Amino acid sequence: MTQVIRTSAELQEKVAGWKRSGMLVGVVPTMGALHDGHLSLARAARAQSDRVIVTIFVNPMQFNNPEDLKKYPRDEAHDLALLQAEGVDVLFAPGVDEVYPDGFATTVSVTGVSEPLEGAFRPGHFDGVATVVSKLFGMTQAGRAFFGEKDWQQLQVVRRLVADLNIPVRIIGCPTIREADGLAMSSRNVRLSAAERALAPQLHAQMQAAAEAIRAGTQIEQALEAARVALAGAGFGQEEYLELRSVEGLRPLTSLSEPARLLAAVWLGDVRLIDNIAV
Ligand code: PAF
Repeated sequence: MTQVIRTSAELQEKVAGWKRSGMLVGVVPTMGALHDGHLSLARAARAQSDRVIVTIFVNPMQFNNPEDLKKYPRDEAHDLALLQAEGVDVLFAPGVDEVYPDGFATTVSVTGVSEPLEGAFRPGHFDGVATVVSKLFGMTQAGRAFFGEKDWQQLQVVRRLVADLNIPVRIIGCPTIREADGLAMSSRNVRLSAAERALAPQLHAQMQAAAEAIRAGTQIEQALEAARVALAGAGFGQEEYLELRSVEGLRPLTSLSEPARLLAAVWLGDVRLIDNIAV
């Protein structure tokens, strides 16, 4: 039975009891609208911890676009049923006032790795993520935290934050879960029209084609440009970035001299799709 907890005080009491019994606590931070990607994180947490907390908090601080926050899908009852089926111990679903009470005045800001890509197109986004993730680590006191590689840059920002602030939690990155046609699972996918949904897998397909071309020796910029042209021709909207970067520091790469990641953000209708793959 998954217990729903809404306050930090109640959660801390629960976690303290587990810890007194020597249990390892795992946390999966989410914003709800759960899909198989989130559930794969809950399963990884289940396999690698004694007790599992999934958090659901649609964090206003990380939305640089108020419309996106308003439209963010929410269905806590459905999410809870999914978590029950996965044997999650606690759903921690605090309200905004619990996370950001009156007088809240702290922002956690990671420089460097948070600045390009998402950081350039979503000003303030990673400050919101770093702040809420720091809060959630403090509130849950978890020893392990599970994040999806789908948000590759977020994963690097969280790793940097935890290392820099000596937060005693081990960050575990888990593979992106995809639909059968290759589209990376995302809570925002439900907002795609039928026609957009049919087109959406092209993003992953073009990224794979670019990655293969780069591995085969095609010049990086030439391979990326071919993918950009193909996406625009297929009917995608603005491409915000499609770039080859180093895997951890996310430095721009002009050759395949080190392990690399291809990362993209592209609009399809009024939905912004992001994806990344290893090269
Ligand atoms: O990846 C997400 O869903 C969010 O950015 C996170 C990590 C739960 C912080 O709000």
